[in-house]
Amino acid sequence: MGRKGREIVGSSIDEIVDDLKVAYCNELTAFHYYWYTSLYMQGIGSLTIASKFKDSAMEELKHAGMIGERLNQLAAMAPSSPVDWTNTSIFGNVDPSKYTTLRDAIEKALEIEGLAIEHYNELIKRVKDVDYATYDILQDILVEEVKEEQDLEDILARLELREVEEKIEEEGGKEIIEQF
Ligand SMILES: [Fe+2]
Ligand SMILES: [Fe+2]
Repeated sequence: MGRKGREIVGSSIDEIVDDLKVAYCNELTAFHYYWYTSLYMQGIGSLTIASKFKDSAMEELKHAGMIGERLNQLAAMAPSSPVDWTNTSIFGNVDPSKYTTLRDAIEKALEIEGLAIEHYNELIKRVKDVDYATYDILQDILVEEVKEEQDLEDILARLELREVEEKIEEEGGKEIIEQF
């Protein structure tokens, strides 16, 4: 975006740039979280979930690209150092190697998505009526984050159901149920 585009955003430009930098760091942290856990996830059914996590990683990378591009249009650059990603991201220092069991991986992902949704909601309110281009981009991303959260909740619910079934089976309760 050229001069006019920046002019339209006006005096809020610095604030918006800072917000977008945080969002960029969030996305890269989320990307690496999904990417890494997709490689090392353990447990029954982890292959299916790992492939889903790999897709999620690519989606977060896409979001980082959208935000990076917007920063470029606003004549700013995204934080380039991985140290900055950790320090700036609202997720804090996420070490994906701590979440490689199926349940932990999904629960941590849900936590990340929840925080991302809250953050995008705040940003969208802030840029509304100030910067329509950023507003549009953030809305598109938010829709995808909400979908991601819903998918994860569905996966977790199925996992919980499976755990209950396994427990029943272990206790021999299934045979009893089947008799009725
Ligand atoms: Fe994202
Ligand atoms: Fe996400």
